[in-house]
Amino acid sequence: MSASANLALVSDALEPQPAPEGAQVVVLKFGSSILRGPQDAPRVASAIYGHVRAGRKVVAVVSAFAGHTDALLAEARGLGLPHSNALLPGYVALGEEKAAALVAIACDRVGLDACALSVRELGIVAEGEPEHARPCGLRPDHLKQALDRHEAVIVPGFGAVQPDGRIALLGRGGSDLTAVFLAAELGLDRARLVKDVDGLYDHDPNDHAAPALRYRRASWDVARRLGGSLVQRDAIDLGEARGVEIEVAALDRADGTVIGERSAPPGPAPALQPLKVAVAGCGVVGGGVLNRLLGDPRYQVVGVLVRDPKKPRDVPCPPELFTSSAAELLSRAPDILLEALSEGEAGHAVIRAALEDGCDVASANKQAVSRDPAGLQALADAHGRRVFWSASVGGGSPMIETVRAARAAGEIESFEAVLNGTVNFMLERLGEGAAFAEALADARAAGFAEEDPSSDLEGLDAAAKVRLLAYEAFGQSPEADAVPRDALSAETRPNAALRQIGACRRDGDRLDASVRLRTDTDDALFQSLKGEGNALKVHGVDGRVWRCRGRGAGRWATTESLMADLAEIVRIRRADAGLN
Ligand code: NAP
Ligand code: HSE
Repeated sequence: MSASANLALVSDALEPQPAPEGAQVVVLKFGSSILRGPQDAPRVASAIYGHVRAGRKVVAVVSAFAGHTDALLAEARGLGLPHSNALLPGYVALGEEKAAALVAIACDRVGLDACALSVRELGIVAEGEPEHARPCGLRPDHLKQALDRHEAVIVPGFGAVQPDGRIALLGRGGSDLTAVFLAAELGLDRARLVKDVDGLYDHDPNDHAAPALRYRRASWDVARRLGGSLVQRDAIDLGEARGVEIEVAALDRADGTVIGERSAPPGPAPALQPLKVAVAGCGVVGGGVLNRLLGDPRYQVVGVLVRDPKKPRDVPCPPELFTSSAAELLSRAPDILLEALSEGEAGHAVIRAALEDGCDVASANKQAVSRDPAGLQALADAHGRRVFWSASVGGGSPMIETVRAARAAGEIESFEAVLNGTVNFMLERLGEGAAFAEALADARAAGFAEEDPSSDLEGLDAAAKVRLLAYEAFGQSPEADAVPRDALSAETRPNAALRQIGACRRDGDRLDASVRLRTDTDDALFQSLKGEGNALKVHGVDGRVWRCRGRGAGRWATTESLMADLAEIVRIRRADAGLN
């Protein structure tokens, strides 16, 4: 297996992907302070999504949900078994397997191509005390094959297999050891342990007798002395022995402590104020975003723009947050606007006003941002702000990032893509024999279709996405009325090979763009798409091809894309303030 991977490698049914330079595998570990219960699986999926979107493959090591290991131990001992019963580890290790399976489901919900392995499939071989064993080898096949085939591989920490085939445990806190061991076996020089604290301190930050100072770099010895229960001792020893640095960091924080060869004097950690976020729209997408933001101490939602503040909502949002006035929303002085209105003109106006007011902006509204992406970018630059629009194209599929990566690697010749989840979903349903009205009603109920679904059916939605991708690929967009479109209608004859393909090719100074219903694309990338799936293929002038795919529509995939834009904006703001 190569340790590098494509920006978004697709399933094993597809042709092998070229590995772009710089792509890498990361090992992340999520302990039970982060994964307290099933409700936290989306936050972990979100962190994984951020890495995949940035072009990395992820091995995510998870612990059991908080309290589950003790509960499993108590259940087994309740049968009167002696503590050292040889079958006990096999039962206790189920806690991590369950958490891994659930995190994989949460990844799938946002459109990540993820799989979960069991302790046996992972195949860490360990020797010694069955409840405190030492890893000594990795069975060669499963992890590496899974990494070749999937964007993210979720694995249970703590458990291993003894040479005789029985399950062993790696000691309390053993998921840290799993992560460091896997990083070493994959040839990586670092494993990242995601904790509920932002690094290693010179003393417990909860002990307020003296201000705690945080290490940005701590030597192995300092970590052994101060690490306590923060990092498992065996993991520190293995990190030192195998040359794998251990990074301890909080969720969604770029900074933390790197444990390795050398220490730097500790200093005060920056106090973080919650960022003020305004949300425009409280429908499928805005409601999903609010679901993620409300109750997250890192953010303070200051307002929600809607047409009708009195309308019942499917997210428990305090009524005083709603307003129907964009001016009032912005008067609440947000740092960041997340824009998910269903109207292009209103969206464009509030984005411009927010940038002029000094807000950073992320938008899912392709009709708003495709009007004049260069103008929005210039306005953002003029005000020293950022404007992001990843969620506007491809839902959770990282299409904007893929085009940018391709463009960074060389000149682009053309791209083609399935860009509308509603149409792809309906084509499948029509092929199964559903009536047109029924297929459309299902797409609307699933939250895929636009408020006015004629935008999906007539290709206007896909055309806006083609224009935005063209701007990213070629620095210019075709005029809106220069994108010929085919409409999906009750007269369209279902055909298993039929796909709506948005495409654009540069021919000298001219851009040839279209949105067509085509049966002639036999590309496995497009033909394998199910439901609301979207996919993109970018052709470089030098013959290289870049691909990505994912869930192109729906609440959770699109929410994740906006949340990843938000995380990126936060990272940049912190870097600008010298806090990373
Ligand atoms: P939606 O469910 O119809 O919600 C739209 C929201 O916008 C509603 O809360 C509506 O307020 C509000 N709104 C519309 N016009 C407004 C105006 N002039 N002033 C104030 N509020 C206004 O739409 P959605 O599915 O969440 O989609 C939102 C945006 O994300 C769209 O631009 C869409 O293209 C894009 N997007 C959607 C998906 C998806 O799968 N749904 C995926 C990617 C991108 P009321 O609730 O009071 O009517
Ligand atoms: N209506 C759009 C679609 C939403 O179905 O693709 C995602 O942009």
